[in-house]
Amino acid sequence: MNYRHEFHAGNFADVLKHIILTRILLHLAAKPAPFRYIETHAGSGIYDLSAPEAEKTAEWRGGIGRLAAAELPPEAQALIAPYLNVVAPFLDAKPRRYPGSPEIARALLRRQDRMILCELHLRAFQDLRAHLGADRRAKLIEIDGYVGLKAFIPPVERRGLVLIDPPFEDAEEFLKLAKALEGAQRKWATGIFLLWYPVKDKGQVDALARTLAEAGAKSLLRLELQVAPDTGSGLVRTGLIIVNPPYRLDAEAEIILPSLSQSLAKGASGHLIEWIAKS
Ligand SMILES: C[S@@+](CC[C@H](N)C(=O)[O-])C[C@H]1O[C@@H](n2cnc3c(N)ncnc32)[C@H](O)[C@@H]1O
Repeated sequence: MNYRHEFHAGNFADVLKHIILTRILLHLAAKPAPFRYIETHAGSGIYDLSAPEAEKTAEWRGGIGRLAAAELPPEAQALIAPYLNVVAPFLDAKPRRYPGSPEIARALLRRQDRMILCELHLRAFQDLRAHLGADRRAKLIEIDGYVGLKAFIPPVERRGLVLIDPPFEDAEEFLKLAKALEGAQRKWATGIFLLWYPVKDKGQVDALARTLAEAGAKSLLRLELQVAPDTGSGLVRTGLIIVNPPYRLDAEAEIILPSLSQSLAKGASGHLIEWIAKS
């Protein structure tokens, strides 16, 4: 297990993932009933953008760095603002930092909501504990995320979101993901699942989408963002599959994605908003 998110924190893929995460959490928080947020691969919680890892790739500069400096159209600005409001104090801090998904979720959880954060890598888990351990709404567990997924759903609240954000170091990750989600949907048919993937081989993503649709998911939305021509070196396209997306997330994506593609693109860019299944 070599993956370290320190090299990638705040890049264009994080930006897309975290904006959509924010939109879903805001939707859940629109009703007073409590919800549960679960992460299978939580990471460290907060990343130091002045650390050698972040400096080495400078990926954040092409992601949150560009977005924070961009002039967005008013409609997109309104939808992206809640994410930027969470991120801004971290970017303004000295040294400059970037909040990972657990920290973003923490900012949007209410008193009645709870979260479960799974992380297997000892160093990342220790960082996560240092950053979020004092929050009584958060339960941190050093565990394989797929084992956690089986163990912790459905939550007692019966409403909530699971973020599945694996490192994709393993050639079998797409298969593992498909299998885990198939089972998870069966256990919690009304849960919202947000899963992140890198687009290196479109065929793998299409196969994952097919498996989920065949497993009976009635509402499946696929979002992708490309920020540069694909020359075969480095990640330029990223995606999300959302199982049971909240009402109007597709309409929000129609405003957010073109705007991201415009503000983050270096050359050829594009986006995809596609219903894989729609009830
Ligand atoms: C892409 S990062 C997570 C980033 C985080 N979700 C965010 O958006 O801020 C993936 C994380 O998964 C952890 N990891 C790798 N294999 C794991 C496993 N089997 N179970 C749980 N965590 C794992 C890695 O240590 C890494 O911190």
